[in-house]
Amino acid sequence: MIPATGQASRKVLAAHQVAKTYGGVYALRDADFTVHSGQVHALLGENGAGKSTLVKILTGVHSPDHGKVLIDGEPVAFHSPLHAERLGIHAIHQHLALVRGLSIVDNFLLGRTHAGDRAGRFGFLDRREAAKVAEEAAAAVGLHVDPFTRVSELSLPQAQLVQIARALTAEAKVLVLDEPTAALTPADRDNLFERLDRLRRDGVGLVYISHRLDEITALCDRATILRDGRIVREMAKDELTVDAMIEAMLDRPVRQLYPPRADGPSGSPVLRVEKLTVPGQPPVGFTVNGGEVLGLTGLVDAGMVPVAEAVCGSRRAESGVVFVDGSEALPRTALEGMRHGIALVPADRSQALVAGLSIAENLALTSSSRAQLASRTRRRFRWLSRRRTRADAAGVIDRFAVDPRRPELATGSLSGGNQQKIVLAKAVSLSPRVLVLIEPTAGVDVGSRAQIYRLLREIAAQGVAVLLVSSDMQEVCGLSDRVCVFRAGAIVAEIPGPTTERDIMGQATRPLAGVQ
Ligand SMILES: Nc1ncnc2c1ncn2[C@@H]1O[C@H](COP(=O)(O)OP(=O)(O)OP(=O)(O)O)[C@@H](O)[C@H]1O
Ligand SMILES: [Mg+2]
Repeated sequence: MIPATGQASRKVLAAHQVAKTYGGVYALRDADFTVHSGQVHALLGENGAGKSTLVKILTGVHSPDHGKVLIDGEPVAFHSPLHAERLGIHAIHQHLALVRGLSIVDNFLLGRTHAGDRAGRFGFLDRREAAKVAEEAAAAVGLHVDPFTRVSELSLPQAQLVQIARALTAEAKVLVLDEPTAALTPADRDNLFERLDRLRRDGVGLVYISHRLDEITALCDRATILRDGRIVREMAKDELTVDAMIEAMLDRPVRQLYPPRADGPSGSPVLRVEKLTVPGQPPVGFTVNGGEVLGLTGLVDAGMVPVAEAVCGSRRAESGVVFVDGSEALPRTALEGMRHGIALVPADRSQALVAGLSIAENLALTSSSRAQLASRTRRRFRWLSRRRTRADAAGVIDRFAVDPRRPELATGSLSGGNQQKIVLAKAVSLSPRVLVLIEPTAGVDVGSRAQIYRLLREIAAQGVAVLLVSSDMQEVCGLSDRVCVFRAGAIVAEIPGPTTERDIMGQATRPLAGVQ
């Protein structure tokens, strides 16, 4: 879309020859990047290419080691993200930047309490007034909750919507969105895109990062491609086809994103769920055979995530039965779930990794719980040797294409997509009978995604039951053998694969007649 302001677009924010190293290694170098008013500018690149690093320099989170940042052509040195906000540069970062212990309204107020503060249009002094603003802003992005709810009580997509709502109430010159839709469903995404389109028409400069490439085609006016910390190409709107973007990012095409499904019928039931009831939802039941991938999907908060979590024990069910290979196994804790052979890739990767520990140590934590499980019967558990741990980690790094290939790095220093790969690797290394995945490829680049999908197929082919919960409908359609569609906590349809996004959305939004 062309900016409808009628005004010529201005260069509102720019990076000039910026470079950033971490521990002596370049994450970004010689980067020239310009944000124009009234345009949406995509930043594209594989996991670890340097996108978030550039965004952090443009928004005052990091200072560049070399080079300059300019606002309206004038060099500026940000002291902090808040300083950047005061100058009209706002961001929604890849990792949730909310204070979980505070309410929605208090998160809205953070950094905006001074009267006349340009970062907050309302000069928020009155908490009640702020609550009203927060409630309206949340409702405008499709989130209807009490503004005094603590962020820790929200689901990940809800928290993401709070972050989006907060940024949208700012009087921004530039708004940077780093993977804003990783946890959002299509309806929320469409709503967000409408808001972004309005901001574009109002002359705001937007920077947009996503690994869902169809979003880039739909939204963006131009794109900059990063590879290994360097800008390698600029693309104009008419060049932004999915295939062209993949070639530009990877320097090779991805021939087949989704691997072929298993031919022939799947094995016998491995996971059987009967009358499983989580608070506030009706009982549900389903079966997953060995070798099969069952997709659970629906609109945001349709109820599939609590059900999947209850299957694993990371959330308590009120009642119901879960069977694994015919044995009763309703777990009350995630550890109990693991003991029954059920492994979980949780939606929030911060739950699954200890950021200060290395890749090898994070993987060994799983091995140690595996060893502890074995030791219950054998009492022969010894801490795995360091060398063995390193060797295991090196194998995982190869299998999951983790970059950089250094087992000693703290997982907190990995790029978002690479952290997600470690979370996946941890679950897979438990050799589960049932693998439950919630948003498994959120933030993972297209090349790595193809590799992960192949791996999941291989794991299923070994007789494992795979339960996939994803808001990425293309992923659900591409990977699942069968799909259960949720609506208001109930399973409203079961669609045998292969299916389409349209079919699923049709079922997910169908009137609820006949379903209690
Ligand atoms: N705090 C840090 N300490 C050490 N290295 C870091 C740190 N932050 C990022 N890096 C490294 O810098 C490089 C660029 O990371 P960055 O987060 O910018 O990637 P990205 O393009 O945003 O990737 P993704 O798509 O996975 O989010 C990576 O190699 C990453 O491991
Ligand atoms: Mg990133």
